[in-house]
Amino acid sequence: MKITIIGTGYVGLTTGTCFAEVGHEVTCVDNNAEKVQTLLDGKIPIFEPGLEELVKKNVNAGRLNFTTSTEDGVRSGEVIFIAVPTPPQEDGSVDLMYIEKVAREIAQFLTPEMGYKVIVDKSTVPVKTGQKVEETLARYAKPGCEFGVTSNPEFLREGSAVADLLKPDRIVFGSNDERATTIMQKVYEPFVAPVLVTDVESAELIKHAANSFLALKISYINAVGRICEASGADIEKVAEGIGMDDRIGRRFLNAGLGYGGSCFPKDVKAFIAISESLGYNFDLLKQVEEINEDQRELFLNKIREKLWVLQEKKIAVWGLAFKQNTDDVRESVAIKLIHDMLAEGAQITAYDPEAIGTAKKFGDLDGKITFADDLYSCVEGAEALIVATEWPEFANADLATVREKMGANLIFDGRNLLNPETAEKQGFEYHSIGRPATGV
Ligand SMILES: NC(=O)c1ccc[n+]([C@@H]2O[C@H](COP(=O)([O-])OP(=O)(O)OC[C@H]3O[C@@H](n4cnc5c(N)ncnc54)[C@H](O)[C@@H]3O)[C@@H](O)[C@H]2O)c1
Repeated sequence: MKITIIGTGYVGLTTGTCFAEVGHEVTCVDNNAEKVQTLLDGKIPIFEPGLEELVKKNVNAGRLNFTTSTEDGVRSGEVIFIAVPTPPQEDGSVDLMYIEKVAREIAQFLTPEMGYKVIVDKSTVPVKTGQKVEETLARYAKPGCEFGVTSNPEFLREGSAVADLLKPDRIVFGSNDERATTIMQKVYEPFVAPVLVTDVESAELIKHAANSFLALKISYINAVGRICEASGADIEKVAEGIGMDDRIGRRFLNAGLGYGGSCFPKDVKAFIAISESLGYNFDLLKQVEEINEDQRELFLNKIREKLWVLQEKKIAVWGLAFKQNTDDVRESVAIKLIHDMLAEGAQITAYDPEAIGTAKKFGDLDGKITFADDLYSCVEGAEALIVATEWPEFANADLATVREKMGANLIFDGRNLLNPETAEKQGFEYHSIGRPATGV
């Protein structure tokens, strides 16, 4: 099928590439000319495991191309996906400016001669956005243009996006139009996954409800972690015991610094605002946010208690990305933590396997901290080491070498990544989240 994706970011690029991989002919549109040029030069602007090879393969096969022209995209695609940002506004509600603009642009370029087109909203949007997109298209398109609007939320996880898209655990789309439903079924025919077809509003809600539930699981385990710390229990064991119940499951029960990234913080905020606008006060989710915010402060308090004064202290930080296997630093707790410590006068050296470039560009850290080339040079002379992102490289670090290089023996592990006994054996005083400190 001929597919157009408008917005070639994390979602648009990976989705478009995977559609090409299963045989569709895909045009990815972006209004960021620099990004499109990078892609035309055969490079990809983000780090996502396996993506670069797949982009090259499909570009060479002639199934994937990039352009800045929305007009070309609208002309060529029988199905047009919208994958532009939906950032939060000051009050937490979703800024739909980008969606509205793309809807107007699509309408402007549609002609009756093009025949029926399906416009698919893939961005995460508040319930009832589909209605607004439909109204906008109807208002601005020339008379006689035919189209249907569907909602197709995306569940990929950064860091494993290619695998998530090629082998999704479910495909959800919502449509109030039979013609659009049939076409969407054809788009997803090559994928082996359960497909749930709903009305537009339910599909839109599923995304916010799913992400908020995952965030809730994280905050829940972090709250239980506080009870563990107060009672001497070990959150890792508790999480294991809870997670063995297959009604609950072990995933997303990892105590730590809390959730960050481009989705959970904004989607929880959005769901609270959406509920409020519909007359429901979602207090439960407000608690989820509060617990998440407090995690960082509680962790900082542990650091303050041990280092006493942060002014002039040399602190090494492992991790800048919001999680492992990505270079994305949007809403990264690691970066917020660094800013907190900088505000108290600490001298920070940080290392991340993939996210130094993005941290310099988007993290407001360039010139304020030192970036190390590897995890061992990062800890040289440090008085404390902070583990802020759960990269496997950190879990496998040789702690004897780390101890030799450091100027003191404190580790604060914000992701419960290291083994407390190993850390103690190497002479560290080791603090983590929701489990007893060792080597104290
Ligand atoms: N990143 C994720 O893990 C993820 C997962 C599921 C859903 N989502 C949702 O998908 C949407 C996109 O997220 P993302 O992370 O890919 O964002 P992104 O910022 O990485 O990419 C968005 C792209 O859209 C482009 N763009 C903006 N306006 C445009 C226009 N008028 N015409 C053409 N291009 C335009 C931008 O230049 C950018 O490249 C959001 O609603 C997000 O909530 C994201």
